Formats: sequence, structure tokens, C-alpha cells
Amino acid sequence: VSNDNQSVLSAYEWLTKLYHHLLRYAKDGKEGYQYFKDRGISDEAIDIFQLGYAPNLKEFTAEFLNKKGFNQAILVKAGLLSLQDDNSVTDRFRGRVMFPIRNNLGKTIGFGGRTISGGDPKYLNSAESELFQKSKLLYNFDLAKKHIRKENEVILFEGYMDVISAYQADIKNVIATLGTSLTEGQAKLLKRYVDTVIICYDGDKAGLEATYKAANLLRKVGCQIKVANLKDNMDPDNFIKMHGGEAFNNEVIQASDTYISFYMRYLMKDYNLSLEGDRITYIEAVVKELAMVESSVEREYYLQQLSKEYNISVETLASELQGHRQKVG
Ligand code: CTP
Ligand code: MN
Ligand code: MN
Ligand code: MN
Ligand code: MN
Repeated sequence: VSNDNQSVLSAYEWLTKLYHHLLRYAKDGKEGYQYFKDRGISDEAIDIFQLGYAPNLKEFTAEFLNKKGFNQAILVKAGLLSLQDDNSVTDRFRGRVMFPIRNNLGKTIGFGGRTISGGDPKYLNSAESELFQKSKLLYNFDLAKKHIRKENEVILFEGYMDVISAYQADIKNVIATLGTSLTEGQAKLLKRYVDTVIICYDGDKAGLEATYKAANLLRKVGCQIKVANLKDNMDPDNFIKMHGGEAFNNEVIQASDTYISFYMRYLMKDYNLSLEGDRITYIEAVVKELAMVESSVEREYYLQQLSKEYNISVETLASELQGHRQKVG
């Protein structure tokens, strides 16, 4: 670790404590505390995740770090402070609740700051740097690791609040990709720890697309996958708040789809199954995908299902599938 990075790490450590302390105990952090309370986050979860508040002041963080003797240029580069036109520095995170982003060793290497007043952007993150690379990070991996190993399963979410809500509901093998799509590096990292990944992205269009990409990357690196099916634009945090952790576990996680079931749902969005032509291409596409499924029981299961649903003989579907399997080899 270079001296600059060492210095940024130290700044993050101070700020994590400072923002957390403000939120928890100070008048200046009251709005932030209230925000988490309104979202149903317990004091215990606030402490575990070291959630904090950066006050809505121009030079609060800048002055704090200046007094500690930090070099401002380094902090600007890390995206903790902003450089103004007149070369003065001001706080970049203002009036935001702060989510420390920890590396595998539990050290803060970045922040996500969420507006509490509907400002734009909703989340402001630390600048990408050698130290903070979102594409290599999995939020909460440090705390989730032992639970992932124990369950031999990990639940993959989109965001901070999904992880915190689930963790608070005692579902602890949970991590998030922080809005970006899963990368091959992250997929390989997961494969080292776990066989099965349950993808549980938001039940909206963006979530569906991201799920498709993540599912295929994970399959490529050799993970088994399951796909949760959240409806009506719900996200895991919404669902848990509305129905509780037990319902989330039983009705969402345990009820996750196989990849094929997910794929059928995913394909549906592009086809109008009341049109014959669409129906045929849809069935062909599903069969083609089925040809890659290893388990003959699983293949047969879905062939039966397609056969019943679309009134095509299993023999015909099976011979179509066989054609694809020969190509696959
Ligand atoms: N994200 C981001 N910048 C944004 C929007 C989102 O970095 N402008 C990341 C955050 O890590 C966020 C995740 O993408 O947690 C998922 O985005 P979204 O579903 O929009 O947010 P939620 O996590 O549901 O946030 P909230 O419940 O606080 O609205
Ligand atoms: Mn604390
Ligand atoms: Mn989302
Ligand atoms: Mn969401
Ligand atoms: Mn949400």
C-alpha cells in the first residue's frame, strides 16, 4: 500500500467513526438517525454497519481532516473533498447518510452517501481509485463470509439497504454489487467460497436485465444459480419491511427459480405468446437453452411442462433438443 493510500485509509477510518458518532449521539446527526429509524433500521444494525451522517455543511469534513493534518490534494483525489474554482476545498458528502464500504478485512475503503432530502444523485459514492474499485468489491463480503461458508449459499442483492435489512432479519449470507453489473472477477471470487448463488435483484426492468447477465457470468465460472422472483417493482428491502424476514425467506428465497424457469420468464418480455409466430420462436429458444442443462431429469421435466403448456408432443420437443445437444457436443 502506497503512502497516499495509507493516508486515505486512515482518513476513512476517522470519518467512519466521526459520521457514525454524529448519527448516533450528536445533534448534528439527528436527521440521519431519524432517516434510518423511519426506514426501520435498528440501533444494532446501525452499529454493525457503522452507518453515519455527513452534516449539511460546507467545510465540516474538510476542517476535521485538516486539523488531523491530512494532505488535501490526496483527499480530493479520493473523492472525499471537492476542489472549488478558487482552489479552496469543500465537503463532497453533505446532508447524506453514509454507508461505509468495507474491504475483505473490514476496513473502510469508500463511502456511499444517500441523500435524505430527495437530492440528486440518490447515492453519491467515493471516486474510483486504486483503493476503491466497485467492480472488484462485494458489499458486506467480510461479514457474510462465514455465513456463506456455513450455508454453502450466498444471496446476491443490488444495494446497501437490501443487505442491511436482510442482515437485521437474521439472513446473514448476503452481499451486494452496489448497482453495477456483476463482473467476472466478482463471480470468480464467489466461486472460491460457495457453490450456489441466489440472485435476488430488484423486481424491475433493470433488475431483470442485470439478473440475466449475472446469471450467465456465474454459470460460466461454474456456480450453481437460483433466481429469486420479486414482483411489482419490489426490492428485497421493501419486501422485508412489508412482509418480514420469515416471509422473505420462505416466499422469495426458498421459492427461487431454477435458471430455466427464470430464462422462460426473461424471454417472455420479448415475445407476445398470443401470437403463433412468437410462440414458436419462444419454444425453440427455450428448448435450445434446455439443451445445455446437464441433468436429464431437469431436461425431461421442462420438456413435459412445455409439451403440456403448448400442446406439442414430448417426442418432437426431445428431437429438437437432441439436435442442439449434438451441436453442443
Ligand atoms: N447506486 C449508486 N448510485 C445511484 C443509484 C444506485 O451507486 N445513483 C447503487 C447503490 O449501491 C444502491 C444500488 O445501486 O444501493 C441499487 O440501486 P437502487 O435499487 O436504485 O437503490 P436502493 O438500494 O433500493 O436504495 P434505496 O432503497 O435507498 O432507495
Ligand atoms: Mn457504535
Ligand atoms: Mn434497483
Ligand atoms: Mn433497490
Ligand atoms: Mn431500496
